[in-house]
Amino acid sequence: MNHFLSINDVTDLSQLISSGISAKRNPFGDIELGKNKTIGLLFFNSSLRTRISTQKAAQNLGLNVITMNVGQDGWGLEMEEGVIMNGDKAEHVKEAAAVIGSYCDIIGIRSFAGLQDREKDYSEQVFQQFKKYAEVPIVNLESATRHPLQSLADCITIEEFKIKQRPKVVLTWLPHFKALPQAVANSFCEWMNPMDVELVITHPEGYDLAPEFVGKGQVIYDQNKALEGADFVYGKNWSSYQHYGQVLTDDPSWMITEAKMALTDNGKFMHCLPLRRNMKVADEVLDGPRSLVIEEAANREWSAQAVLREILLGMQ
Ligand code: CP
Repeated sequence: MNHFLSINDVTDLSQLISSGISAKRNPFGDIELGKNKTIGLLFFNSSLRTRISTQKAAQNLGLNVITMNVGQDGWGLEMEEGVIMNGDKAEHVKEAAAVIGSYCDIIGIRSFAGLQDREKDYSEQVFQQFKKYAEVPIVNLESATRHPLQSLADCITIEEFKIKQRPKVVLTWLPHFKALPQAVANSFCEWMNPMDVELVITHPEGYDLAPEFVGKGQVIYDQNKALEGADFVYGKNWSSYQHYGQVLTDDPSWMITEAKMALTDNGKFMHCLPLRRNMKVADEVLDGPRSLVIEEAANREWSAQAVLREILLGMQ
């Protein structure tokens, strides 16, 4: 593996999941792999899990880690080519990416969707520019359209907790008053597609994800019907793709409660976190035995370790 921007960079998903599970059993088995190498973690947006789990995974592999809140501490970066830089951006990505690439052997980047311009967001300009100018492997720590380290952790979690060969996995939209990106939902669908699962997606009308992410997923607009017999319920809010970035509804009846979970086949609840309690999901679910949110977050370390290990092996 060179870059890790999406599932398209993965040659063998089963092997990558197994590698994550192996890292969990033996975290320091590859501690020599990253010796004398450095990873730079660049955050244009806030993070708790991604920042700490990726740093920990890198350290488990013997990598040196440099973390920077680019959005707060760095110079404003110009991403457009050929512009007159007379605005608030003091540095061009051409220099910034090349300079960071000269210090670091791998660069991880988090840069969310602006939710104003769909074409721009879906072009993944920040990642494409770093890929072009940094000349080192780039790792997606959540981009405008995808969150692949989260999705790999979700695959690991489903693999660990499934009790059927082909579980029913339901991605359900959750209510939220703020406009959030489609990245986690897109990515979850993209990674569930090659898995041996029955994928159902439920959301209010107007919240359909881009077709290229839905793939084999069956869309059912009636949440109760979609939840029937589910083995895993994956909750997430996202803003509209069609009416780009808009909040069309925050209907509280879409919140996941015990009554909703009772429609499932003793299903487990998953969410990438962070989440707002009793708006998206009721306390009774999060504090009860069905919730896998902590186990899922813990698996972020092993998904990051599996990916960084692949990249380091590719450098040998
Ligand atoms: N799930 C996730 O990416 O969490 P953070 O935003 O806290 O990194």
